[in-house]
Amino acid sequence: MTFQAPKGVPEYLPPRSAAFLAVRAAFAGAATAAGYSYIEVPVFEDTELFARGVGESTDVVTKEMYTFADRGGRSVTLRPEFTASVLRATLEHGLHTGQLPVKLWTAGPAFRYERPQAGRYRQLQQFDLEAIGTEDPAVDAETVAIAWAGYQALGLTRVRLLLNTLGCRQCRPAYRAALQDFLRGLDLDAPTRERAEVNPLRVLDDKRPEVRAQVENAPLITDHLCASCKAHHDRVRSLLEDLGVPWEDTPRLVRGLDYYSRTTYEFDHPLLGAQSAIGGGGRYDGLSEDIGGPPLPGIGFAVGVDRIMLALEAEGLLAETPARVAVYGVPMGEEAARRLFAVVNELRRAGVAADMAFDGKGLKGAMKGAARSGAAYALILGERDLAAGAVQVKNLASGEQTAVPLAEIIPTLQERLAGAAMPAPGA
Ligand code: HAM
Repeated sequence: MTFQAPKGVPEYLPPRSAAFLAVRAAFAGAATAAGYSYIEVPVFEDTELFARGVGESTDVVTKEMYTFADRGGRSVTLRPEFTASVLRATLEHGLHTGQLPVKLWTAGPAFRYERPQAGRYRQLQQFDLEAIGTEDPAVDAETVAIAWAGYQALGLTRVRLLLNTLGCRQCRPAYRAALQDFLRGLDLDAPTRERAEVNPLRVLDDKRPEVRAQVENAPLITDHLCASCKAHHDRVRSLLEDLGVPWEDTPRLVRGLDYYSRTTYEFDHPLLGAQSAIGGGGRYDGLSEDIGGPPLPGIGFAVGVDRIMLALEAEGLLAETPARVAVYGVPMGEEAARRLFAVVNELRRAGVAADMAFDGKGLKGAMKGAARSGAAYALILGERDLAAGAVQVKNLASGEQTAVPLAEIIPTLQERLAGAAMPAPGA
């Protein structure tokens, strides 16, 4: 009997997995540069945290959660996202009683029982960033700029930023009522009419052409904002302008989670088809209270690492086979293997990625291994070289080969490699 990975769960194998790590690293780098610290949160939580946090009327909570009773009879749920957990941990450990905002990032798998298709998975990988305890619109712009920097660092050029605001507890109720009034006058099927009663904004997001056509003239939130929401939104936009981050005003942008207020945004990649959202976020100024905490505003985003991988592929940015190492040892005979093993280890300690042929492979097989590794140099060590205390250094691109005294091999390689930097994984 053989086994397969569960349905809807992408796996990342070498050489592609190097790019997976590079995606995470790009966003982690941008977050770290802005003073965000790493937080590790649980993969599962009390089901009630997500029910209250993400929202009882969302698809995520009603249809997509991996919920089960543990052996102690507690209802637990595999995290469908990170925001509720990060805020729960912040409150539980009192991080919000110190310097504000609390700036955190995390990354890893989240779980949603969705119908799998290209770019939509049941185990999905996110990079998530949260700034908790601030209402400053500059922090809204900061989160957007960090995500933007992450995409840029990866070389993506087709990313679009869709920006909206959802108003606040003051102005949204009136907008919601106006939208409901409008929707009640339309010819909608029963489930959609029901949705209009529970979560009218979601109807604006309906992809069916017959619904789209009808909601074309629906009232827009941007015409119903209170003065402070309008000022907040204008400020976010002017700050983004200062930073040179281009956006598209998208007054119909609706997010799939219930906790949002004011600034909301999504990053879209036009080459990805139906699942084109490669990131999204926004403010969640009421979430802390929803999960039993004090009033504590916050904003953040998560990007979909799986979809960014697809976007990199679509833009032709994934190297076919990124180099695993810079140097590869090719020993001829047992004594040479022993000597090279130590040299390779020393290279690694000196910060030069190195590997070598094992299993007593012959010259041909070992050189094949060297080529596959992507190394810039092969170190070929035979009996005669050993006797002479030297090693043959072969430049695998040019084929040029020179003998270098074994005692000088580390600095020699460091020097030669400094001239030709290793390509970044996934670059
Ligand atoms: P979200 O929009 O649900 O937001 O997810 C963020 C990103 O995760 C999406 O834009 C998409 O790239 C990726 N994603 C979501 N579901 C799937 C899936 N089934 N398969 C593949 N990728 C997927 C959140 O999760 C919020 N917690 C973001 C946030 C943080 N808001 C404030 N702070």
